Amino acid sequence: MTCMVIVLCFAVLVPFVVADLRIGFYNASCPRAEQIILQVVQEQFSKDSSISAALLRMHFHDCFVKGCDASILIDSTKKKPSEKSAGPNETVRGFEIIDEAKRRLEAACPSTVSCADIITVATRDSVAIAGGPNYAVPTGRRDGLVSNPNDVGLPGPSSSVSGAFQAFKDKGLTLDEMVTLLGAHTVGFAHCSFFEERLSNFQGTGAADSSMDSGLVLELKKICGTAGSDQKVFLDQNTSFVFDNEYYNQLKLKKGILQIDQELALDSTTAGLVSGFGASRIRFDKSFASAMVRMGSIEVLVGRAGEIRKNCRAFNPRKRKSSSRTHKRKTSSRTANDRKKKNPPQIDREFKNLNFVFYFSDYVESFLQFVIGSKASFVIEEEDGAGLEPAVIKAAEEVAKGASWRDLLEPGVKRALIDEGTKIFEKFTIRLLFSFVLVITVCVTRVNGLLGLA
Ligand code: HEM
Repeated sequence: MTCMVIVLCFAVLVPFVVADLRIGFYNASCPRAEQIILQVVQEQFSKDSSISAALLRMHFHDCFVKGCDASILIDSTKKKPSEKSAGPNETVRGFEIIDEAKRRLEAACPSTVSCADIITVATRDSVAIAGGPNYAVPTGRRDGLVSNPNDVGLPGPSSSVSGAFQAFKDKGLTLDEMVTLLGAHTVGFAHCSFFEERLSNFQGTGAADSSMDSGLVLELKKICGTAGSDQKVFLDQNTSFVFDNEYYNQLKLKKGILQIDQELALDSTTAGLVSGFGASRIRFDKSFASAMVRMGSIEVLVGRAGEIRKNCRAFNPRKRKSSSRTHKRKTSSRTANDRKKKNPPQIDREFKNLNFVFYFSDYVESFLQFVIGSKASFVIEEEDGAGLEPAVIKAAEEVAKGASWRDLLEPGVKRALIDEGTKIFEKFTIRLLFSFVLVITVCVTRVNGLLGLA
């Protein structure tokens, strides 16, 4: 019996410790989150169809440096340079798209949707709008607290296949996934400075790279030779704005722009993959969707780690330690009835449904309040708000001052409780089932043993 109680306690409490990415993470806390992001992407794409390329590259550069934690979005300050100031990131663009999505999301659901998730979802949407696959992406990432230019160590455009692969392998990705992800070069530009060496005196030979089509060499020489700033050319010379598998076919025609692109078609370990993706759009789309989800999961921060930034370009200001725990009970003048009235019926319904699912409405309410309340007091003591909805933190602060939880069930708090409750329910049922199977197995084994002995 004691064992059973311990198992059940674990079943209930573990979800608060182990959090993960999941599809529809914001369903309860910010139901319109993905819609809001999609709308921003659609609007921006209609003005500039190259934003898919911008977002894809941003996502890659974010995930490969300290994981997908939006560390790439932090602006440098006079005192502290950020990842943005590192050489490989100087031409990363599209930050204003994330700013706009964040602005709208903060208006709809303050401090709820992470900048890291905005990059991920916006990238997915921009790929789909450009003609690529649409796929479900798990969310629940949190924003990082570090952005240091010295951490930026991305593979260069002149890397060999094995050199580039080492970087992908270090992030837990396969060779197949690397070739797939480089398929993102089916959209966007490259500045001449990244491939100019291939046009003349390649590797000190005094001639152009023989693996590049000679007609293309001449064309690129004309563009890159233009006096003035560093010019740009399309990475996919055929369908430059469409997200398709044409990149691979261009490589087979010796029309890869970057050396690493062309190498993929030449290296014996990757040439077959290039041919396969070039031959089948379906195969490429499928592989791309799954590789993007894998890339988007690199070293993510979840649960209570990191933070949800208010402004994607800056870390949240650190909170002061609260000394309010000793304050006497002092609720605002609003009554519980006033607050009740403010609960939209839909939230009340969801809250009731949740109770119904658990069968013991009072027990559930006080259980949630206890768990969340103890989390909240921990948060107050540790002066970090990570992992909790701001509405709950605010309410917890009131409780710390002596207010009753029951008086604080405003829509925001209820919404957060529903979210936490749903999470508990989801994980609880799985764990309960698992414990049940475990207990049955142990019982059956014991009974068998006893019968055997008899
Ligand atoms: C070995 C790996 C990679 C290398 C060496 C590499 C290198 C580069 C370079 C040098 C550029 C040109 C940037 C410029 O001139 O501003 C570029 C552009 C781009 N890269 Fe990559 N890349 C790699 C992998 C990836 C991956 C995994 C993705 C996405 C999944 C990606 C997406 C893009 C996109 C979309 C552009 C065009 C950006 C724009 O138009 O602004 N790249 N890449």
